[in-house]
Amino acid sequence: MHLEEAIVQRRSIHDFKEKIISQSSLKDVFAKATWAPTHRMKQPWNIIMLQENGKEDYAELVLESYERQGFFSNDEKAEKMKDGIRKFLNKIPHHALVYMEKDEDFHKYEEDYAAVCAYIQNVQLLSWEKGIGVLWMTSPYLDDPLFAEALGIESSSYKLVAVLQMGYPRQIPKPKLRVPIDDKYELRDDPFI
Ligand SMILES: Cc1cc2nc3c(=O)[nH]c(=O)nc-3n(C[C@H](O)[C@H](O)[C@H](O)COP(=O)(O)O)c2cc1C
Repeated sequence: MHLEEAIVQRRSIHDFKEKIISQSSLKDVFAKATWAPTHRMKQPWNIIMLQENGKEDYAELVLESYERQGFFSNDEKAEKMKDGIRKFLNKIPHHALVYMEKDEDFHKYEEDYAAVCAYIQNVQLLSWEKGIGVLWMTSPYLDDPLFAEALGIESSSYKLVAVLQMGYPRQIPKPKLRVPIDDKYELRDDPFI
């Protein structure tokens, strides 16, 4: 697959087959993605791959975080909702939690966050080339310190950047068209001050 094809044809996937992806394929993607640009060679990305029984624990932690954030009412409906979310999350074959150390220097923190985002896009494109779908998620539980601690991540030192839902796509959504570049791109090739 040409790079241009991967970039233009990739879609965020919301509906996955239940088939698990081999660790060797996943490791290949996450290893090649490390060629992302990274200032000072900090390579700030870390990954916890949650799958099989591990994803069941993850789903419970997500529900507990939603509960803490007052997402559920106190009635029967809440139990049904929780059950729906639990089943939905458990059907997704892989949840890759991506996190980074928080640099105390804000400028370096931003450089690291940018590098992790470049890394994630590499993961998305390399996955797409292998027929693997990804949904890049930044749900509110990623900012819940108790959620991080339950995963064994010290929330004062680390930022949870994203959860990547991964699996073979059952359905590929239609493209969401982009704003024409002429609306965004300004050429200045004469002195302008
Ligand atoms: C930083 C970031 C966070 C995102 N978080 C979510 C999310 O929480 N839930 C979701 O459904 N999609 C999320 N997305 C995916 C976007 O919604 C998606 O890229 C957009 O709709 C365009 O669709 P496409 O990727 O198929 O072109 C996120 C994307 C980025 C870059």
